[in-house]
Amino acid sequence: MNTQELKHLAERLMAEDKGLLAMDESTGTCNKRFKALGIPQTEEYRRKYRQLIVTTPHLEESISGAILFEETLHQQTDDGQSFLAILKQKDIIPGIKVDQGTTPLAFFPGETITEGLDRLTDRMISYHQMGLRFAKWRAVIHIETDLPTKTCITANAFTLARYAAICQEAGIVPIVEPEVLMDGAHSLQTCAAVTQDVLKEVFSALYEHKVSLEGMILKPNMVLPGLNCPDQNSTEVIAQQTISSFLKVVPAAVGGIAFLSGGQSPMLASERLNMMQLRYGSQIPWPLTFSFSRAIQQPAMEIWKGDDQNITAAQQALAHRAACNSAARRGEYLPAS
Ligand code: G3H
Repeated sequence: MNTQELKHLAERLMAEDKGLLAMDESTGTCNKRFKALGIPQTEEYRRKYRQLIVTTPHLEESISGAILFEETLHQQTDDGQSFLAILKQKDIIPGIKVDQGTTPLAFFPGETITEGLDRLTDRMISYHQMGLRFAKWRAVIHIETDLPTKTCITANAFTLARYAAICQEAGIVPIVEPEVLMDGAHSLQTCAAVTQDVLKEVFSALYEHKVSLEGMILKPNMVLPGLNCPDQNSTEVIAQQTISSFLKVVPAAVGGIAFLSGGQSPMLASERLNMMQLRYGSQIPWPLTFSFSRAIQQPAMEIWKGDDQNITAAQQALAHRAACNSAARRGEYLPAS
């Protein structure tokens, strides 16, 4: 493992003013979002949609890296340019989702474990040969009465650490994503406690697996009340609880923190990131940015609707949300824009 190279890559991904674009929806998730908008659920429409994203003018001004899904790696534009080549021309670092989704955790109803470690070393070597320089693995934690269990947290922390070590051995920066879901009626305080428990376990496993913290990026949830919680806290309180939780459990050496959006509206996700930068930007030890999927893409997908005539307007919406998040990363986002 070349730790200096990994650190340098992580620094490029966390470049000032920029963040990550997650465009790595699995076929099932992408089709689900297409279906809701009446877009045909075929490989060709997924290709067209991802073509729209990678050819968006000015995307590179706000985006340092794009997380791709396996299907996209070999896809090309209408005129035969590979998506990977286009990203490289724009100086957007290509990355890849390498987990293979979640499956029920045996003997623990309501909980899941993420799969994909089999032959991961070989896959990493070939991804590196293709020019991919970072990867993503998402673990999912549910909050319910009596959940999450310690077993679920430990099992997911272990697999995240195994994955991260395999990435780094192959010269790939791991994005470590333990997502505590927003689903449920739990309070902000419960989310804060669970998020801290999960992150403590994750960093302990990363340490055991000798993962270089400087050469990795954490992709966490923001600390939020459940979607059905009657008390929806203010942006100030959410920013304060999120930052104070991370200061307790995320080592200062970590290469960066890039939030997932998790189903927040695009504007709220930008507003909350902005507040964290505005209030705490000078006190936090790690670069803090975004790694959003829905909170960047959703407005563009809704405009596109699978119709070529809407491509330009959809690309403008995509570039706009990316630019809003770039502004939020500097603490300069204008709420409601
Ligand atoms: O794994 C989840 C994605 O990378 C982030 O998606 O921003 O829509 O939560 P999201």
